[in-house]
Parts: sequence; C-alpha cells; structure tokens
Amino acid sequence: MNIILLGPPGAGKGTQARLLVERRGMVQLSTGDMLRAARKSGTEMGRRVAEVMDRGNLVTDDIVIGLIRERLLQGGLGGGVIFDGFPRTLAQADALGDMLDAEGMQLDHVIEMRIHDDEELVQRVSGRSTCSNCGEVYHDVTKPVPGDGHCVKCGQTSFTRRGDDNAESMRTRLFAYYKDTATLVGYYHVKRLLRPVDGLGEIDDVAGQIDSLLGHAP
Ligand code: AP5
Ligand code: ZN
Repeated sequence: MNIILLGPPGAGKGTQARLLVERRGMVQLSTGDMLRAARKSGTEMGRRVAEVMDRGNLVTDDIVIGLIRERLLQGGLGGGVIFDGFPRTLAQADALGDMLDAEGMQLDHVIEMRIHDDEELVQRVSGRSTCSNCGEVYHDVTKPVPGDGHCVKCGQTSFTRRGDDNAESMRTRLFAYYKDTATLVGYYHVKRLLRPVDGLGEIDDVAGQIDSLLGHAP
C-alpha cells in the first residue's frame, strides 16, 4: 500500500509517518528530510537549497522530483511507501503519477491532515525539537523529551531545532501551502483518492483515524 500524507507545515505528517513505519513496516520518503540530509552532507545541491528552505519557500520541482525518482529506482519498497511532504505542486503530482506507473506501483490513499487553524500550526512548529540521532520528533508542550533528557527511542541526549521553525519562515511556508499545495486536495479528490482526517486531535487520536482508514495492519 502506497500513501501520501498531505497537509500544511506542522500538521503532523512526520509524526504520523513515523508511527506508520513502526506499526506497519512501511517506508517513509520525506523530501524535507532528504533535502536536510543533502544540506548536512554539504553537497552542491544542499548548498543551493539551504537559503530557500530557511526562508520557507519551495525548492524547485526538478530537484525534489529527482530525489524521489532516485529513491524509487533503488527499490526495496515492497512494504509500502509513505510520501511525506511530496508532492507539493501539480507538476510534482503529475510526475509522481508517471514515476509510479513506470515502476508498476499504484497510489492507494491520499490522507489529507486537515487543520484550518494557522495559530495552532505556528505553536506546533515553534515547540518542535528532533532527536539528532534517530529523528524522533518532540514538542515542548504536547510531547516533551522526558525529564532525564534522553530520547525515548534511542536514549541519546542531543536534540535539534530547525532553522525554518520561526514565525517569519512559517508565514512563508503557510503561504506556499495555500498557494501551491492546497490545490492537490481537489486533484486527488477527482481521482477518488482523498481521505480527510481531523488533524487537530491528539497524536493518538489522529493515528486512530488513519488506522481506521487504512484497515488493520498486516
Ligand atoms: P518539510 O520538512 O516537508 O516540512 P513541512 O511540510 O513544513 O512540514 P513539517 O515537517 O514542518 O511538519 P509536519 O507536518 O511533518 O509536522 P510534525 O509531525 O513534525 O519541508 C521543509 C522545507 O523543505 C519546505 O519548506 C521546502 O523548502 C522544502 N521542501 C520539502 N519538500 C518539498 C517539496 N516536495 N517541494 C518543494 N520544496 C520542498 O509535527 C510538528 C510538531 O507538532 C512536532 O513538535 C510534533 O511533536 C507536534 N505534533 C504533531 N502532531 C500533533 C498533534 N496531533 N497534537 C499536538 N502536537 C502534535
Ligand atoms: Zn532518538
């Protein structure tokens, strides 16, 4: 089963993707994570996209489509793919359809994580931190790192905050979502793939809604 998690910045796409990986053995393909890895490793592409990302603008279609194409060609995705943060434009959505066709894969569900409360989204990203070792995502209020400061998943004690998780970049990211990405809701509705969930509930409630949509884990 291959799915897309679609939703504005801070909707909880990464959080729910990690739960699906744990519970169902699916593979998470996050273009945001791929781009951050490229930055960290200092590749030329990583250097080119750094400023664009920090400002909260979208990276060009050719770069992110190239990243996804490369990963799909590597294979090993039989357990199912969660596309997290991709596609984000109509051109990306069309390209994904073509790439999946070429690989003999199909898209089963597009889960739209609905949150129409920008203030809630700003609160979520402002409080976010991520384990530097395993990538577990925390929030200062709703999912704090335990009192002893160790990651619950890997035990490490180092956490990072993202350069684009500030109020100014968040305004640009939200604008980009409403301008370029929200149109994909209609695109996938017409294809009868759209499955809306209420993203405002607690993490477990949202996970429960997604589980009901996808059916029991194999
Ligand atoms: P990307 O990394 O994809 O970021 P994003 O879409 O802005 O999404 P976020 O990672 O901020 O949020 P999320 O929905 O995953 O929320 P999370 O689970 O972490 O993209 C970053 C940048 O890369 C883009 O701006 C762009 O420049 C570039 N880029 C990436 N993909 C691209 C593409 N396809 N095309 C062009 N450019 C691209 O949760 C957020 C916080 O809330 C956490 O602290 C979490 O603990 C907490 N939380 C989660 N769920 C809940 C809940 N239910 N209740 C309370 N708190 C919750
Ligand atoms: Zn960890």
